[in-house]
Amino acid sequence: MSPDRRGPLVVAHRGASAARPEHTLAAYELALEQGADGLECDVRLTRDGHLVCVHDRRVDRTSSGTGLVSEMTLQHLNALDFGTDGEPAGLLTLAELITLVLDFRDRPTKLFIETKHPVRYGGLVESKLLAELSRFGLSAPASASHSRAVVMSFSASAVWRVRRAAPLLPTVLLGEASRYLGGGAATTVGATAVGPSIKSLREHPELVDRAAASGRATYCWTVDEREDVELCRDLGVGWIATNHPGRTKEWLAR
Ligand code: G3P
Ligand code: CA
Repeated sequence: MSPDRRGPLVVAHRGASAARPEHTLAAYELALEQGADGLECDVRLTRDGHLVCVHDRRVDRTSSGTGLVSEMTLQHLNALDFGTDGEPAGLLTLAELITLVLDFRDRPTKLFIETKHPVRYGGLVESKLLAELSRFGLSAPASASHSRAVVMSFSASAVWRVRRAAPLLPTVLLGEASRYLGGGAATTVGATAVGPSIKSLREHPELVDRAAASGRATYCWTVDEREDVELCRDLGVGWIATNHPGRTKEWLAR
């Protein structure tokens, strides 16, 4: 496949997370202002069944609190500070992030939602996520390319559950490049894209063509160095997730 001359589209990983606290409103607003084509977020379930944008199982690294997200209520989480450097920031729910994306000017920014802890909850995260997307009219797009939401997971079962329940929603099966080159797990679960890390894509650049040959795009993470951005552009990667959406957009525009 020849490289896409427009270059990869740029996804802000946890927002513009190199410049603002990850997964906060400030991080996502900055990413949108910097022209990100997509926003990435991780979602977890609270004890009382709300989907919130938090990466780790625990809140200790990213907030003023301590404990497991799954054992805390939304009210408890809302009382924590997720800011850094003396700048307070609240928790973001998935609903709030969807609203931000849909309300932002007339740009069709996509939301790349990664489900965490899929095993522990045995599909509850995915069913809650699909219900939330449905509430916003996002669960049955006219086509994958028109979809404003993309669901991602390292878990093949999670991707399979989403494909079965919402066949029109695009999905990314995340994992090292070798995962796809061997047995074709992405084909098995019907993911619309493969999602290798940049480290593994450097080792297996042939993956991009192999994925394209089966009609799949490539989503690569986390691409922060200029030489890696250029490698992805030259290989024809469709989407790159970066903590630096602003400078990445500038590099690709040159
Ligand atoms: O965008 C995919 C990437 O975020 C996966 O890794 O640990 O940052 O969720 P992680
Ligand atoms: Ca993630």
